[in-house]
Amino acid sequence: MLDRTHRFRRAAIVAAVAIATVALSGCGDTGPKNKQNALRPKGPYANKILDLTQPFFWVAVIIGVGVVGGTIYIALRFRVKPGEDRAPKQVHGNTVLEVSWTIVPAVILAIMAVPTIATIFDLAKKPAGPNVVHITVTARQWWWEYHYDDGSNIETANEMHIPAGVPVSLTLQGPPKCSGDGCYANGVIHSFWVPELNGKKDVVPGRTHFLKLQADEPGTYDGQCAEYCGLAHADMRLRVIAETPADFKAWEQRQTTARAEDVLKNGVNDKQWNCSSCHSFAPTKPGAVGPNLAHVGDRQGFAGFKYEMTYDNLWQWVWNAPSRKPMGKLEQHMPSFVDKGMSQEEAKKIACFLLTETATTPKTYPECQSS
Ligand code: CUA
Repeated sequence: MLDRTHRFRRAAIVAAVAIATVALSGCGDTGPKNKQNALRPKGPYANKILDLTQPFFWVAVIIGVGVVGGTIYIALRFRVKPGEDRAPKQVHGNTVLEVSWTIVPAVILAIMAVPTIATIFDLAKKPAGPNVVHITVTARQWWWEYHYDDGSNIETANEMHIPAGVPVSLTLQGPPKCSGDGCYANGVIHSFWVPELNGKKDVVPGRTHFLKLQADEPGTYDGQCAEYCGLAHADMRLRVIAETPADFKAWEQRQTTARAEDVLKNGVNDKQWNCSSCHSFAPTKPGAVGPNLAHVGDRQGFAGFKYEMTYDNLWQWVWNAPSRKPMGKLEQHMPSFVDKGMSQEEAKKIACFLLTETATTPKTYPECQSS
């Protein structure tokens, strides 16, 4: 019996250490590579949230230590000692104690509610002014579609460019409503979150939601869908690239550069593979189902930002997307072109074409030189 208790204890200690190690390892990546850190805000809105979180955290620590410490102290102090034979003093409540442990927490919560509600209203206030950038974000399974509403009408995916030091107003929505033949069931709840720039906001199909972002400095800020939305939820990432307002304007200008539709269609042998049935190559035209591919070679990542934009990643994606990202029974997703008879060589050719499909001077890809 004693042996069993010992073994159990040892197992419990080992388990506790293992769990703590795994849990704490999540806190390890605090370096510059961790771009999803709400405790390291990079803009005014995220700062406001941290300003609220930090004092409340310490209030909770003090109360937690007091309650747990008090419980342990009382349990030890008043426990029955060996050989002692006494009944505890019988009481019927203590009015002073009971009233105070009701009122004190209520007062603490009431005090904490004041800055909380103020922050909620503050963050819900829509930014106004001529500088504000308006972007409509459509949450898809499993990627983000962006439409720039301020005249340029650019359509792009996953990678959001914004000016630094300027408020950005986001209208978040689900995919267009299901109707008739174009009906597909991808209307699920997502949540848009760029921890360094603001809190998260759920995106519920059939509704529109508001969220604002602002970055103090130019830089890249990574985000992630924060609401479980199916198989590739973990691969529904995004990147915000903040630039100086002048650089942002230049980017916006460049992205509106139109390309002849037939050049693009020929570039991917559209007759055979029918890419244009899901993707648009016109900079301001929304993709029917898949991401808009205008100037796609300018982006740093693709496929819900699961992959960095590299030659190998791209051709493998073109060739057999379902093997690169779980898409399950989703009705309309990037199909396996292996199954449609595409050769690796052809997939590589299409990747090379897409990588040079840029509004800037494309990078040089040695693999694309020979062909
Ligand atoms: Cu979209 Cu999780």
